[in-house]
Amino acid sequence: MEEMNKAFATFEERDRVASLGGGASKIEIQHESGKMTARERIDMLLDKGTFVELDKLMVHRCTNYGMDKNKIPGDGVVSGYGKIDGRQVFVYAYDFTVYGGSLSASNAKKIVKVQQLALKNGAPIIALNDSGGARIQEGIESLSGYADIFYQNTMASGVIPQISAILGPCAGGACYSPALTDFIFMVKEKSHMFVTGPDVVKTVIHEEVSKEELGGALTHSTKSGVAHFMCNTEEELLMSIRELLSFLPQNNMDEPQKQSFSDESNREDPTLNTIIPSDPNMPYDMKDIIERVVDEGYFYEVMPYFAKNIIIGFARLGGRSVGIVANQPAYLAGVLDIDASDKASRFVRFCDCFNIPLITFEDVPGFLPGYTQENNGIIRHGAKIVYAFAEATVPKITVITRKAYGGAYIVMNSKQTGADVNFAYPSAEIAVMGAEGAINVLFRKADAETKAKELEAYKEKFATPYQAAELGFIDEIILPKQTRKRLIQALEMTENKMLTNPPKKHGNMPL
Ligand code: HXC
Repeated sequence: MEEMNKAFATFEERDRVASLGGGASKIEIQHESGKMTARERIDMLLDKGTFVELDKLMVHRCTNYGMDKNKIPGDGVVSGYGKIDGRQVFVYAYDFTVYGGSLSASNAKKIVKVQQLALKNGAPIIALNDSGGARIQEGIESLSGYADIFYQNTMASGVIPQISAILGPCAGGACYSPALTDFIFMVKEKSHMFVTGPDVVKTVIHEEVSKEELGGALTHSTKSGVAHFMCNTEEELLMSIRELLSFLPQNNMDEPQKQSFSDESNREDPTLNTIIPSDPNMPYDMKDIIERVVDEGYFYEVMPYFAKNIIIGFARLGGRSVGIVANQPAYLAGVLDIDASDKASRFVRFCDCFNIPLITFEDVPGFLPGYTQENNGIIRHGAKIVYAFAEATVPKITVITRKAYGGAYIVMNSKQTGADVNFAYPSAEIAVMGAEGAINVLFRKADAETKAKELEAYKEKFATPYQAAELGFIDEIILPKQTRKRLIQALEMTENKMLTNPPKKHGNMPL
């Protein structure tokens, strides 16, 4: 018995040491810099007491620079599995207290192990990044570990949800693991992502830029579109990940969980009839419509600060998780440009991968014209939206609130590209182009009086939903106040939708 107690004590001591990662002084530095440790983050992310750690005693095998004399159990990554809202998830967190969370070959092995477990067992995986990148002492061994991780990221794409949080530095090629996942969360001022840091930028291209400008949360949330969520604190970020998962299924063969809701399915909202201004050139906030329609008025917006002319995010209708894509007339009149196209298409594809029905709210004057957009490839980028909507086999429902012009009408989940149910408000204008533009083409040489007369005639004939309804491109014209009820009915009608695209290895989406 004494022998056994000794064995237990040895284990407990080794476990205690491993729990401290880089040790008390490194933990203090981590706290002083306003960051939590890897284990604190995992504990906060997961349901209390559910974390099971794997490979806690794994060490590196490097002998360069005297590394063999400094092996820290766990070696800079904490990995394992646990629960979020009672559902299985896998998680790994870089431990900055151990060699700055740098990636060793052993760390990569640990990460690949949880990635494979997550894929095999069909559960989401969450990566908490805070790392100095490849462990310099290990040379190419460490680099190769990244390749193994990227490969697993790619294999898991579209099979299980993959979520990345950036909670400190994430530099160099290390950025590509988060970039291969579905959603990236960043914390203001604490997290940084760049392929080359400010020093290298200065040396190579003589540009002076701060790390915040180069790769801070604000930059990636407003300009580059790399990050999907910008949070004020780590705690807020971790809670936001929990919330995001509540909208998602466990894997691509699963459905999102239906949630109970304290909202009438057939609730009519008369205020909806008053939101769209009678002047078609006046803006309004599409979020006012979305929030009045969805369960309990709750909309979980994704990428709220990037390409604000299009809105994407999750909500529930009748307790079912839905992905919402909506033009925003309050920003650049809701026009479609390159960034809006990329933002919307990626989201549509995510929802389609994970069996989340798509609801489109449409008020779009067209694609943004001009030299810059054309030269940067609006054709190639805009094509992504039509591709993404057309290939999506999930239930697809569209509500045209006002403008639906030209190509933009067609790409925004039109009936002709496979939408299941298409609604329009009486205020909808579904036409090849706006009245002014059309009359200028058709009556270029006419006098002012004729032009004015023809303008009115055009508006009456085309700036309405009636031609589209007569042709069956619109299934029903509804009053705005009926939107919620009709959407829920359409979701119920399409609940068992059976549609598969032709067999193919994969399509060749315009990228
Ligand atoms: C080994 C590293 C390390 C690394 C940091 N450390 N990065 N050890 N390999 N890549 C160690 C430091 O030596 C230090 O050890 C401890 O971690 C904490 O680092 P500090 O510099 O004291 O912390 P801080 O001031 O907060 O700065 C953090 C940092 C900086 C910005 C990450 O450490 C840094 O610039 N590191 C190098 C980043 C880098 O160039 N990585 C390689 C990128 S290339 P001690 O013992 O003093 O506590 C790459 C390729 C990937 O990653 C390609 C994939 C395809």
